[in-house]
Amino acid sequence: MEFEKVIRKRFSVRKFKNDPIDNELLNKILEAGNLAPTAKNNQPQKIYVVQSKDGLDKIDKASPCRYNAPVCLIVASDKNLAWSKENYSTYEMDACIVATHMMLEATNLGVDNIWVEMFDKNLLKQEFNLGENIEPICLIPLGYKTDDCTPSPMHNKRKDLSEIVEYK
Ligand SMILES: Cc1cc2nc3c(=O)[nH]c(=O)nc-3n(C[C@H](O)[C@H](O)[C@H](O)COP(=O)(O)O)c2cc1C
Repeated sequence: MEFEKVIRKRFSVRKFKNDPIDNELLNKILEAGNLAPTAKNNQPQKIYVVQSKDGLDKIDKASPCRYNAPVCLIVASDKNLAWSKENYSTYEMDACIVATHMMLEATNLGVDNIWVEMFDKNLLKQEFNLGENIEPICLIPLGYKTDDCTPSPMHNKRKDLSEIVEYK
């Protein structure tokens, strides 16, 4: 799909069918994340692919926002690996860029998705035995939207460019 189409087609899907995602597509999505730029190329991201019943139940304990997706990515970042300076670290920024790459590649491949930050970080870390240094940044439920799923009203509410762009 042309990039222009991908960014215009993407919207947050909050109602998924049970249909699984083909492994080949899933791998392409993960590879797109792997191509993302990270500070100093440190690649602190850790991606957990959750698709077992047990794993999805754990996601549901920590978040109300899986929306029945058959696969849920936990996009996390290793604070010990990310580029840092004094009190500043790019661990979150790096993981967000990785997540964006994966979201857009998913859309490109016809796999619906949503970015979720509403989850209990401590509970998620506990449920998945994530190390002290591993910080979950977002969840990306992946799958295929139900036939009646349409973009939420928020989707089309975009500020005018003049409100957010200034030429200096
Ligand atoms: C950082 C971030 C966090 C978000 N967290 C959630 C969330 O926890 N639950 C949810 O349903 N949607 C979440 N969303 C989706 C946004 O609500 C959505 O992207 C926004 O309303 C624009 O709609 P659109 O994605 O359909 O264009 C999140 C999006 C971003 C970028």
